[in-house]
Amino acid sequence: KMSSLCLCPQRLADTAEDADLYHEYNASLQFDYFNALLVNTMDEEGNFIELGGEFPLEENEHFNKLSVNTLMSDIQVPTNVYNKDPDILNGVYMSEALNDVFIGNFQKDPTLTWQYFGSSTGFFRLYPGIKWTPDSNGVVSFDCRNRNWYIQAATSPKDIVIVVDVSGSMKGLKMTIAKHTINTILDTLGENDFVNVIAYTDYVRYVEPCFKGTLVQADLDNREHFKLLVEELHVKGEAKVKKAMKESFRILADVTNGQGSLCNQAIMLITDGAMEDFQSVFEEFNWPDKKVRVFTYLIGRDMTFSENVKWIACNNKGYYTHISTLADVQENVMEYLHVLSRPMVINHDHDIIWTEAYMDSILILLLMTSVAMPVFSKKKETLSHGILLGVVGTDIPLLEVMKLAPRYKLGAHGYAFLITNNGYILAHPDLRPLVSPSESSYSLNHSNICSSR
Ligand SMILES: *[C@@H]1O[C@H](CO)[C@@H](O)[C@H](O)[C@H]1NC(C)=O
Repeated sequence: KMSSLCLCPQRLADTAEDADLYHEYNASLQFDYFNALLVNTMDEEGNFIELGGEFPLEENEHFNKLSVNTLMSDIQVPTNVYNKDPDILNGVYMSEALNDVFIGNFQKDPTLTWQYFGSSTGFFRLYPGIKWTPDSNGVVSFDCRNRNWYIQAATSPKDIVIVVDVSGSMKGLKMTIAKHTINTILDTLGENDFVNVIAYTDYVRYVEPCFKGTLVQADLDNREHFKLLVEELHVKGEAKVKKAMKESFRILADVTNGQGSLCNQAIMLITDGAMEDFQSVFEEFNWPDKKVRVFTYLIGRDMTFSENVKWIACNNKGYYTHISTLADVQENVMEYLHVLSRPMVINHDHDIIWTEAYMDSILILLLMTSVAMPVFSKKKETLSHGILLGVVGTDIPLLEVMKLAPRYKLGAHGYAFLITNNGYILAHPDLRPLVSPSESSYSLNHSNICSSR
């Protein structure tokens, strides 16, 4: 019966791929869609504004009394993406085919809550349709491409070592940008991934000494733990990138024998420049196979050492980016995901992913899991490059999944719990919220679970 839950994203993915296959890109397409931020908005003369037409909304018990439209999905676009860009218009137009599938899925399985398509171009088609509320500062920062379900479905599991330069030259704004870059990278990881964070000057220091020489699961607890430690980093001394690289290659080589995801291995180097002669470390540890990709982030306005930093990325199958302001961080960090998702896109691995359980911020007090699946272009001319169109998903309250357990077979002291294929516990009777319901993420009390098993 579990597998029937996976049929919904499968139907959505098939529909989106077919819709794209038969859609011919039209660069001058004019098209009015329902923009979730703008719907039901009138100008001074009482006319509906562009992209903001009349969109009937009705309070719905199943959606915690939120006003929704169960007959139609609508489109959210983050503020930093132009909502009439030809790519957006074409994507929105072709993905209208999903509407009927959303409605059909909901009719077949009324326990479903949200169903959605997150496009690689940045728009988010959500069913049922809602009126989107901007953040408190008036902007819409929600970008579906940063969400855990999107990233986990769009990439295979990854082993990542984040290496940050904390030498004296990194002081001030550079360090602020570097910290933000680390946090943003951590946000792209999920419980299928493994990670560690190393700081270096003329010596190498693990931000968490307990995790020395190994990788840890990038679950929510560990990600938050790293973020706190990164906040404490101070700059001092002179940078010696070679030692830090050597240590990173060692960790990644070690996990081949134990923990780690073994699929994608990468080092993320965050620095304002590399001076000493470092070529030999790559020769010794990574060439000729280049099994580990090295992505480099050059921080700050000074470009003096950009050639060196670029060289490291280009000679290790990575990607070089220059981050000079805080506003650059998000887009630049996301770039690495495109590189890592390419092999999977070419192979068209339609793996279903279940995200870690989280507390839905709208349907409060419901523990949710997202079931998501990548969507690829099936067009002949793009097949060999592997184009990721986006990710489809559905949110399911865990209570509903638990109901599938055959209670009558469990006996008096029996209970059901739910575990994913990578050993992550999704639901258990002893599960208690660790954070206030107003926070959108949710953590499971592992110790509680282990003692009762
Ligand atoms: C492209 O879109 C424009 C505006 O919507 C339309 O007039 C034109 O016929 C379309 N072109 C094709 C080839 O469909």
